[in-house]
Amino acid sequence: MAAVRPLLPLTGVERLQHPHYRPNSTSRRSSPSQVWHSLPSAAVAPEDPRSYYSVADRIVAETPNAILANQYHNPNNPEAHYQSTAPEIWEQTRGKVTDIVVGMGTGGTISGIARYMREHGHDVRMIGVDPIGSLLYDAWKHEGSTDGLEAFTYKVEGIGEDFVPSTLDLQLVDDVVQVDDAEAFHWTRRLVREEGIFGGGSSGAALAGALKAAPNFGPERLVVVIFPDGGSRYLTKVFNDDWMREHGFLGVDTSGLTALQVAKSRGFPTLITAQEYDSKVAVITRMRQHAVSQLPVVDDSGSVLGIISEVELLEHMLANGHHSVDETISELINRDVSVRPAESPFEDALADILAHKVVLLIDDLHHPIGILTIIDALEHMASVEVQ
Ligand SMILES: Cc1ncc(COP(=O)(O)O)c(C=O)c1O
Repeated sequence: MAAVRPLLPLTGVERLQHPHYRPNSTSRRSSPSQVWHSLPSAAVAPEDPRSYYSVADRIVAETPNAILANQYHNPNNPEAHYQSTAPEIWEQTRGKVTDIVVGMGTGGTISGIARYMREHGHDVRMIGVDPIGSLLYDAWKHEGSTDGLEAFTYKVEGIGEDFVPSTLDLQLVDDVVQVDDAEAFHWTRRLVREEGIFGGGSSGAALAGALKAAPNFGPERLVVVIFPDGGSRYLTKVFNDDWMREHGFLGVDTSGLTALQVAKSRGFPTLITAQEYDSKVAVITRMRQHAVSQLPVVDDSGSVLGIISEVELLEHMLANGHHSVDETISELINRDVSVRPAESPFEDALADILAHKVVLLIDDLHHPIGILTIIDALEHMASVEVQ
């Protein structure tokens, strides 16, 4: 599959056709190179003053010497793709292209390319990609009608709409494939990892759509997928693991590791223990020295008896004002602790962690060799991404 970038930037407009455009006759002329710090939103109605459309209108109205490119209704938008992108694809594939997969936003790209191919008699299947949440897919199925359709928000940027722009000619589109955010972002990341192509989220969406639309194509088909922009502007989103995790786009793979491997992954090679008849003071001192909040307790033969934690020690001390130095921890041991063979699969230990908050890992002799805590499990799961 080849990636083809549009070469021509969109030209300016002669007429501002946006339905919300209000011409401002008092505009003064000045340098067009001003930077605006507005925070427009895609999650509000177009009429809302915070919407991208309204903010753009306002900036144009307030800014001397500014024009609105009006990409949703500017015929120069598809025309640019008719004149540049389409012949570029045709020439670079030496007329062998059979399918072109394009994410649809304004629809300028797909409509311009499609019209060129039709008008030149080239039999090329045009496949649009639409994010789930957008209504373009349903509008295409209903021959352009949006009656009764509603859009909802999604995270991938640049594609999908809650109306049908006049720059999108759905009649020229042969098929539309839906993709969800997770698929789009998954393929965006694989694209750079495996192919070294650093595209944005809509590139990943187009690739996801292509894989759905052309699952079993043989070598006789030449599929072109458009990757519209680079990934650098999405570093805080699709390329940021925290953002991806926060939005539920990174799955976790807990398979294959033992409970002990996960317990040790945070780097506690030697397990510190306490004995049943250790004094409370000695145990508190040991906890402080090793910066741990709980210790497995063993008998004389080294077998597990239970666990002692700082919470129980503290509760006990608060409840009983006076303490002798030789009081032992014996009565404070939590003996109802979850114990598992260290080599058991991490997955199996997860339910125990949820129920008991901690799992003691033992060897064949019933000696403790590790502690698996909630934070170990969380850190491990946060660090593993399903590919
Ligand atoms: C990043 C990105 N991807 C895809 C598109 C969709 O292209 P078109 O508007 O031509 O449908 C756009 C449109 O601006 C975009 O900015």
